[in-house]
Amino acid sequence: MVNEKQTKTIKKRYNRISGVFDLMDHMIRDEWRKTLLQEAYGETLEVGVGTGANLKYYNDHARVTGIDFSPKMLHKAQEKAGHLTGHFELMEMDAQNLKFNDNTFDTVVSTCVFCSVPDPIQGLKEIRRVTKPAGQIIMLEHMRSDVEWQGKIMDILNPIGLKIIGANINRRTMDNIEKAGLKVIRQEQLISSIMRRITLSPNKK
Ligand SMILES: C[S@@+](CC[C@H](N)C(=O)[O-])C[C@H]1O[C@@H](n2cnc3c(N)ncnc32)[C@H](O)[C@@H]1O
Repeated sequence: MVNEKQTKTIKKRYNRISGVFDLMDHMIRDEWRKTLLQEAYGETLEVGVGTGANLKYYNDHARVTGIDFSPKMLHKAQEKAGHLTGHFELMEMDAQNLKFNDNTFDTVVSTCVFCSVPDPIQGLKEIRRVTKPAGQIIMLEHMRSDVEWQGKIMDILNPIGLKIIGANINRRTMDNIEKAGLKVIRQEQLISSIMRRITLSPNKK
């Protein structure tokens, strides 16, 4: 059951920061986005598309549907899409309750999204549901450090980022991925264990 109150609060925070998001967000390097998105093909869903930072990196092999629950972030993405030639459809939608049929997408993309989704396991279950059995889920996600003392510091600092931006810095995303029934095919640590590039299978066979 999705926590409606928490969902409303996080959505409001992203609406609030949408105007300055591109100026303040430097967590993901452009080359990481570029490398990740070269792997997208076919019917592609980007969850938490935000202000559309990834859109320019998709190639012609991907027909992209981008969703976000923040209309103001989505508006920024729409502006960027207007300057691009690729196929983009952007929709307001909650990742915890996707309005797509099972087995719709060849590729699902997320970049720094599961730090914010109020119920990350529910969101991950939803992307598993809409990914075709032979499809792929590709991610750049930051998470709690595997080094325990660093993780503890992240636990202490977490309420600050959550209050200002709506993102958690101490999510145990690899555990959440397992709990959602997804299978890790590949993972690369980009900033120690904190920022990772991950390829998942929906593990439906
Ligand atoms: C840190 S931003 C990242 C945006 C973009 N993916 C990027 O790489 O720049 C997280 C985004 O996820 C969106 N988001 C968080 N929870 C969501 C949910 N339950 N459903 C849809 N979008 C969500 C937020 O509105 C925000 O746009």
